Amino acid sequence: MKLYDYLVVGSGLFGATFAYEAAKRGKRVKVIEKRDHIAGNIYTKEVDGIQVHQYGAHIFHTSNKEIWDYVNHFADFNRYTNSPIANYNGEIYNMPFNMNTFNKMWGVQTPAEAQAKIDEQRQEMAGKEPTNLEEQAISLIGRDIYEKLVKGYTEKQWGQKATDLPAFIIRRLPVRLTYDNNYFNDTYQGIPIGGYTQIVEKMLASDLIDVETGVDFFDKKNEYLKQYPKIIFTGMIDQFFDYQLGELEYRSLRFETEEINVDNYQGNAVVNYTDAKTPFTRVIEHKHFEFGKGDKDKTVVTKEYPQAWHRGDEPYYPVNNSINNGLYKKYQKLSESVPNVVFGGRLGQYRYYDMHQVIHAALVTVSQEFNEK
Ligand code: FDA
Repeated sequence: MKLYDYLVVGSGLFGATFAYEAAKRGKRVKVIEKRDHIAGNIYTKEVDGIQVHQYGAHIFHTSNKEIWDYVNHFADFNRYTNSPIANYNGEIYNMPFNMNTFNKMWGVQTPAEAQAKIDEQRQEMAGKEPTNLEEQAISLIGRDIYEKLVKGYTEKQWGQKATDLPAFIIRRLPVRLTYDNNYFNDTYQGIPIGGYTQIVEKMLASDLIDVETGVDFFDKKNEYLKQYPKIIFTGMIDQFFDYQLGELEYRSLRFETEEINVDNYQGNAVVNYTDAKTPFTRVIEHKHFEFGKGDKDKTVVTKEYPQAWHRGDEPYYPVNNSINNGLYKKYQKLSESVPNVVFGGRLGQYRYYDMHQVIHAALVTVSQEFNEK
């Protein structure tokens, strides 16, 4: 058998960044991936000349110049700015909450008028301590915006009534008193021209890296542990330990993707459905991430349905409440019993990471691993 310095489990951004950096330092790396393709959840695939985001809309954004320069090394980015719209029973509102939203909702035109309206609406909760998500949202933004733009979406996302959800889920609701529909406040933002998969392909292109897809670590866990001096594990930490302390909780998603024979289906990449009746939360029209690139008479749209997670489902979002975070801490302690395994990424570290954050986390692991500052 060929000798490797590292086994990397999972070819998402964390695993790929680690493998790339290790190979740069002359290390030999084996990457195994249980899916039949590389790139984890940032995987994109071309359909009708359109880059389709297979696991949900991915928009790269960061204020960290180093990370922006790093990722631009692997792809050129376009100037895409995330400006989702909300559809509430056929009424269209701009997101995030800004002067366009307030003008549509209340007819107000100036920031002072909007602020006065928000203050009036928040009066409903004056002097009361919010005890659940509904009360918290009303105390921050008032009832009109809560009812039309927060309630239905949040209830679908969590599969629970807003009055049964804890207040802390919404710590703040960003309000912008300018006519600015840019969702993110970050300095840099864009979509890689030609899709995300190329980034991971380039990261894994070294002769020192071998990649095998369709291989599940758990099929040969004990062999791998004996065979490899060091393992970077980006799968689920509770599964690694055979759920011996209990199961961590996740939310899952179901994606329904279809090709439609029109040039332009919804006029925007991301439309949130904020009413309770519509069963999906978002519709993504992929060609708008690339300003209409692709076939002129075709488009590809994906509906996103939030779901409860059960073993075997894709674990998209960790549910970071105090119970799960407490359990994760115990698994973290248990991981000290396997010093040759490093747990990384959103599943290994049981936390939601945006792409720029997961690259940063992988680079921190690299500097720890190679004793670099
Ligand atoms: P990731 O899940 O990508 O990779 C882990 C890999 O390990 C997977 O390929 C998995 O198959 C593999 N694996 C797991 N267990 C294994 C086993 N036992 N054996 C072998 N392989 C195994 N971020 C952002 O910046 N902007 C955005 O717009 C979005 N949008 C977004 C939408 C949705 C719906 C989600 C769920 C997430 C986002 N993100 C995002 C976050 C982004 O997806 C995230 O930062 C990275 O994918 C995390 O990379 P990881 O490598 O940690 O995990």
